[in-house]
Amino acid sequence: MTEPILKIDKVEKHYPLPRRRLLERRRSFKAVDGVSLAVAPGEVLGIVGESGSGKSTLARLAMAFETPDAGAVTFMGEDMTRISPDQNALLRRKLQVVFQDPFSSLDPRRTVGWSVSEPLLASSFGAAQRRERMIAAMERVGLSADLAERYPHQFGRPAPTHSHCARHHHRPGPDRRR
Ligand SMILES: Nc1ncnc2c1ncn2[C@@H]1O[C@H](COP(=O)(O)OP(=O)(O)O)[C@@H](O)[C@H]1O
Ligand SMILES: [Mg+2]
Repeated sequence: MTEPILKIDKVEKHYPLPRRRLLERRRSFKAVDGVSLAVAPGEVLGIVGESGSGKSTLARLAMAFETPDAGAVTFMGEDMTRISPDQNALLRRKLQVVFQDPFSSLDPRRTVGWSVSEPLLASSFGAAQRRERMIAAMERVGLSADLAERYPHQFGRPAPTHSHCARHHHRPGPDRRR
């Protein structure tokens, strides 16, 4: 079997509950209680559960945005809870979050092309190279280059999600535009 890219081993996350009485022992709530999973390279894993069952908390633990109270998170062979901040920053570059509501992550006052190329402002690429890469990223997610000049509200629902994916240099697979 290939080595998993992400391994979550018996992780727990406890959140403190408010005290009901002044001298009461601090109790906590187990938002995630001993979850283990492994994701192989190229594999897609969906997590389903009712609201409040701990899906977002598990995602934050997987991204090392939060530290588990027990268990371990291994990403690309590194224990995310034990690595140095420098190593963490390096691994972070390989992790991306695509939020559910793409409108909240696209600036309504900027063209979609601008938002897609924005992350490259931190790179050493010049304007022409940034534009080239922006167009390549858009096309990779099924958006033609001329759509780069549009604003988020000028798209239907699915396109902003695509743009958002392009912004993160994702490869979401088949074009699902209607
Ligand atoms: N930062 C936090 N502090 C306290 N309780 C939290 C915090 N984050 C989440 N919770 C609680 O943990 C539980 C799981 O939340 P969450 O992971 O957001 O669930 P889901 O994403 O499945 O809806 C909920 O009861 C929620 O109220
Ligand atoms: Mg959630």
